[in-house]
Amino acid sequence: MKPVSLIQFLIEERRAGNINAELSLLIEVVARACKRIGVATGKGALGGVLGEAGTGNIQGEAQKKLDVISNEILLEANAWGGHLAACASEEMEDPQQIPDGYPKGQHLLLFDPLDGSSNIDVNISVGTIFSVLRCPDGVTEPKAEHFLQPGTTQLAAGYVVYGPSTVLVLTFGYGTHEFTLDREVGSFILSRRGIRIPEATAEFAINMSNQRHWQAPMQRYVGELLAGKEGPRGKDFNMRWVASMVADVHRIVTRGGVFYYPLDAKIEKQGGKLRLMYEANPMAFIVEQAGGAATTGRQRIMELQPGGLHQRVPVFLGSKAEVEVATHYHLEADGALG
Ligand code: AHG
Repeated sequence: MKPVSLIQFLIEERRAGNINAELSLLIEVVARACKRIGVATGKGALGGVLGEAGTGNIQGEAQKKLDVISNEILLEANAWGGHLAACASEEMEDPQQIPDGYPKGQHLLLFDPLDGSSNIDVNISVGTIFSVLRCPDGVTEPKAEHFLQPGTTQLAAGYVVYGPSTVLVLTFGYGTHEFTLDREVGSFILSRRGIRIPEATAEFAINMSNQRHWQAPMQRYVGELLAGKEGPRGKDFNMRWVASMVADVHRIVTRGGVFYYPLDAKIEKQGGKLRLMYEANPMAFIVEQAGGAATTGRQRIMELQPGGLHQRVPVFLGSKAEVEVATHYHLEADGALG
């Protein structure tokens, strides 16, 4: 069959009425920016881009040079196209306005420019995650409050993983699709249409070093997975943890599995580790559109009403039946099952 490029796919989606011309342009621009980020990350030590930038981001975390570079690439690429009302980045405290005199559009773009950046220096996959919302009618200078929409209102979400190959995974709410970058030609080519995550799995991803800090239902759930065939689950489970959410989620989107970053005593005050607007919501949309599930352990992630641009939440996502077991244990422990 003839290869389908991202551009051709976007034309098909427009014809089907799933997206408008402005959203199509937005995705093209983001994909182009991600190709540039892929080139920068791919240069490694030769590009002089490894190591710390010597600055901190809004989350109080040390920024890598590539965090800063990737953020600038995405901001610069999206400033002039006329498809955006504003954008927000995990790396910046406040939303970025479109410069005066530039055309503006109807969309709000949120992104984590380089997720898993602590892995860059050791040459392990990193990625970009993004989410697209509609700018509320009549708002010309969007502020943080205008971005605070539940994940169910997302118009699009995607991630790009910079790994052995560069892969874009995308949803508009009509299934989840994968594109692989043909590096010689410079185009993203459709490699999987209508991805389905198997409902059941025997593989889980979690940072086990936090075990002693977890809440009781998480202790019980993972304890049962580790007990394997001899335990109540009656089967052996395998474990993987890349510590790059994009890479862990991409494995789940490819062969199933579950990913957990639960609440624990160390991070209880901040509400979780991962960010609702830049990580949890877009990944939840992608996973749900592939037949998986995404919860906080207690409720569906996409139904949360965001309280802040940089809000953090617990994340349970992946193969539906398994996420349901873990969520059930939490609700049962809370006495919320009636
Ligand atoms: P960062 O972008 O600061 O490197 O954070 C990475 C995120 C996410 O990608 C990953 O799943 C998780 O943090 C890993 O956290 P731990 O290091 O606590 O395992």
